[in-house]
Amino acid sequence: MSDFINDFWNIYVVVLVIASLLFCAFIILSNKGARPSGTVELHGHQWDETLAEWNNPLPRWWVWLFWITIVFAIVYLIAYPGLGRFGGKLDWSSANAYSKEVKDADAKVAPLFERYAKMDLKQVAADPDARAMGERLYLNNCAQCHGTDARGSRGFPNLTDADWLYGGEPEAIKTTITGGRNAMMPPFAATLDGEQVRDVVQYVRSLSGLTGDNMRIQRGKDVFATNCAACHGADAHGNQIVGAPNLTDGVWLYGSTEAIVTQTVSRGRNGHMPAHGELLGDNKVHLVAAYVWGLSNTTAAK
Ligand code: HEC
Ligand code: HEC
Repeated sequence: MSDFINDFWNIYVVVLVIASLLFCAFIILSNKGARPSGTVELHGHQWDETLAEWNNPLPRWWVWLFWITIVFAIVYLIAYPGLGRFGGKLDWSSANAYSKEVKDADAKVAPLFERYAKMDLKQVAADPDARAMGERLYLNNCAQCHGTDARGSRGFPNLTDADWLYGGEPEAIKTTITGGRNAMMPPFAATLDGEQVRDVVQYVRSLSGLTGDNMRIQRGKDVFATNCAACHGADAHGNQIVGAPNLTDGVWLYGSTEAIVTQTVSRGRNGHMPAHGELLGDNKVHLVAAYVWGLSNTTAAK
């Protein structure tokens, strides 16, 4: 309740809450005690022939219930947030309550995490309990991008296929998850003319066995050697240090059609894998990395 845009709303809420309580008390008090006229009589309201309203006072137990709700409201407003900006004596807030719950839960599983953290990543991947925990972490933190089955989609790599942009060794996977990755495929629209782009696109597609115009493929080979080999390697097998994909394996991150590869080359690509080190902490990264490693190393992991 500390986020009122100005003091007016703070005061408005305080006045409204207190005025409502006072008004409730006033209503109860003004209905209390003896009948104004001293005699039992009809109010003059009558419905359905025989249903009439008399001037009897409210039953005492009922009046007490009203008073109790007012006292409860006052105690509540002293203890908890509700009165404008006043945070309450107990200093309770939903954010505090949540972070305390998270802390308690973490404390409970911490010994378990620590046991796995000391183990080699491949051993962790072979432990069914650890894999189940890794899978839960994966589903909560990674599935929105890499898919629930971890097979990825356009722009989001498949994590089950043993084809790696940045390396599939346990430590490489862990580094990817902890620090994130930023791919830098530069745009070539300014460097190459339209013909050169078409040539190199046909050449790159031919590396995965897709057919094209032989003349273009021959010319594209030279364009590739001059402009692309620095990152993708002279043999186009890629470079895991910069995350340049292997262009010969028939696995496409963005797609293999001529239109898509042309777009990749002309406009460049900047795949972004967000860093998860701070969000998850070392122990959880360890578990989820083991899970991911296990996805493409199924015999070792089972
Ligand atoms: C500075 C390094 C660098 C250079 C130079 C470079 N690339 Fe790339 N390339 C990358 C990186 C990194 C990626 C991955 C992009 C991503 O993951 O978002 C990539 C991705 C690609 C892809 C997408 C592959 C897929 O699986 O969808 C193609 C195609 C490609 N490059 C072709 C080329 C061609 C052709 C050239 C030369 C004209 C070239 N690249 C030059 C770094 C480079
Ligand atoms: C916001 C989307 C997003 C989320 C969330 C995300 N990733 Fe990624 N991840 C990517 C993208 C995009 C890439 C490819 C980066 C590139 O193009 O170079 C990537 C790359 C990777 C790679 C490298 C794959 C390779 O071939 O080397 C691994 C491993 C990975 N992610 C694992 C994870 C794990 C585990 C999580 C959860 C803790 C996760 N990712 C969460 C988008 C995401």
